[in-house]
Amino acid sequence: MKFYVMSLFPQMILDGLNTSITGRAIDSGVLSIEAVDIRDFSNNKHMKVDDYPYGGGAGMVMQPGPVCDAYESIALRCSGRPRVVYMTPQGHTFNQHMAEEFAKEEELVILCGHYEGIDERALESIVTDYVSIGDYVLTGGELPAMVVIDSVSRLVPGVLNNDESAQTESFSDGLLEYPQYTRPANYKGMEVPEVLLSGHHGNIEKWRHEKSLERTKKYRPDLYEKYMAENNNNS
Ligand code: ADE
Repeated sequence: MKFYVMSLFPQMILDGLNTSITGRAIDSGVLSIEAVDIRDFSNNKHMKVDDYPYGGGAGMVMQPGPVCDAYESIALRCSGRPRVVYMTPQGHTFNQHMAEEFAKEEELVILCGHYEGIDERALESIVTDYVSIGDYVLTGGELPAMVVIDSVSRLVPGVLNNDESAQTESFSDGLLEYPQYTRPANYKGMEVPEVLLSGHHGNIEKWRHEKSLERTKKYRPDLYEKYMAENNNNS
């Protein structure tokens, strides 16, 4: 899968994703991440890409020209008009279902804003999906773009190895993950739950499911209610 990230700080994207699992997938050619510097498409001798907002107000707004021209330079190299995800606190909240949808694309463009945002005409011309990573405001779209790329990438065949993909389904059943333990069985007097040492797979599965329910009820009552309604379950 190929990601194109349109940004004023392309190095942030490359520095953030060239390590660990995504870095390995880039090295092996399963993933490709190209950071496109919007400033390269400035039509100003000072390489300016922003200006004051019409109507007044604080901050600067990114101009439509450089954003649209950067997109066209990407689209020229794609098979069709690629989907463009704009990272913004004004978007739909990102979730696992969206990650699964984006992972079906061959190519995905992610647009990162800065300052007070991007001229609406550029957004209307190119954006297909408005996505937020949560109800808080960051200084720019680069960290949100990395969140989206990381979660989409791990769904692309060949990015995770077998051990890693075994633990992928934590969210897709609608419940939070159960607690995990490893050696030693006794750490400073704290014991691993007996059932996990028993070797009884049925009991282990049952215990894990109960712990998942318990956690979900405590930390994410919204998910718990949904799970209970969908599974018609009174436990
Ligand atoms: N840009 C700034 N804050 C953001 C957020 N919460 N989600 C996506 N993009 C953003």
